[in-house]
Amino acid sequence: MFQVVVLANVTSVGVPRRGQVVVLTGASSGLGEALAHRLYAAGCRLIIMARSVDQLDRVRQDVMLAHQRELVYPPVVLPLDLSDSDGVRAAVGKALRVFGRVDVLINNAGVSYRGEALHTELEVDARLMQVNYLGQLAAIKTVLPSMVEQRSGQIVCVSSVQGRLALPYRSAYAASKHALQAFCDCLRAEVADHNVHVTVVSPGYIRTSLSLNALTGSGAAHGKLDATTAAGLEPDAAARRLVAALVARRHETLLAPLRDRLAVLLRALLPSVFFLLMRLRARAGTGRPS
Ligand SMILES: NC(=O)c1ccc[n+]([C@@H]2O[C@H](COP(=O)([O-])OP(=O)(O)OC[C@H]3O[C@@H](n4cnc5c(N)ncnc54)[C@H](OP(=O)(O)O)[C@@H]3O)[C@@H](O)[C@H]2O)c1
Repeated sequence: MFQVVVLANVTSVGVPRRGQVVVLTGASSGLGEALAHRLYAAGCRLIIMARSVDQLDRVRQDVMLAHQRELVYPPVVLPLDLSDSDGVRAAVGKALRVFGRVDVLINNAGVSYRGEALHTELEVDARLMQVNYLGQLAAIKTVLPSMVEQRSGQIVCVSSVQGRLALPYRSAYAASKHALQAFCDCLRAEVADHNVHVTVVSPGYIRTSLSLNALTGSGAAHGKLDATTAAGLEPDAAARRLVAALVARRHETLLAPLRDRLAVLLRALLPSVFFLLMRLRARAGTGRPS
């Protein structure tokens, strides 16, 4: 029985099944755009979602031009705004009806934050929780009943190393990603017997526009490409590793350099040492928006 399930969903190692219906959020830029290329080239039936429909249309054209040789399905573009849970349920419900099923939901869209907790408006914390947590849950809860009914499916959530540990001046972001990680850990256990798999991918820095679009304590955009983000992993390299985690149905993947992995270990094994290091980091102003 186990072998039948595996063979039915994976054609070859590291490549998603051709024709698999994948809903991908945050496909208008960065990691999501790189994922769109990889999944399209693998022959997935892609539904790409974000707020900027013009950018989604560009991504759709780009992937079709870049992978002309493959026999593939043109991606379907649908608008999505995670800041409104009812709107998310309506939009993802629409995505579900496009092919009558969803095999994989990749919750990749997200927003970051730079600021001091002391001077951050509560509305900004709420916005981060809405976009990075509640909006993601609304998407999951819209597709989950159909996955349970079809007795197959996979939810992939893009979290962050900051879903595993919290850095100073990132409180709203780290809190939202911790919440997402915890929800996924509960969900994974609850739906496993329905043959629904939950994968959490926790990247370190990736060279995308994330820091440019990050919100500050007042709610204004940070508007800067931070040096750490600029020096991060190439989006395509991150996308390749995320797709590998998806195909292998890994429970979680820490897509980060050794230093970040050791920090996660330190947080778990020697929290007092970790907290001291974070205090020194905060005092030095590392990561504080200027
Ligand atoms: N880059 C990094 O260093 C890094 C590190 C760890 C984790 N991550 C995670 O990786 C994921 C992808 O981010 P990225 O690095 O590729 O950044 P990005 O280039 O800024 O992409 C973010 C994506 O999310 C979408 N998005 C933002 N707010 C949204 C909303 N309210 N509703 C719907 N879609 C929204 C954006 O599209 P629209 O603006 O068109 O809506 C865009 O497609 C995020 O979850 C992020 O937290 C990134």
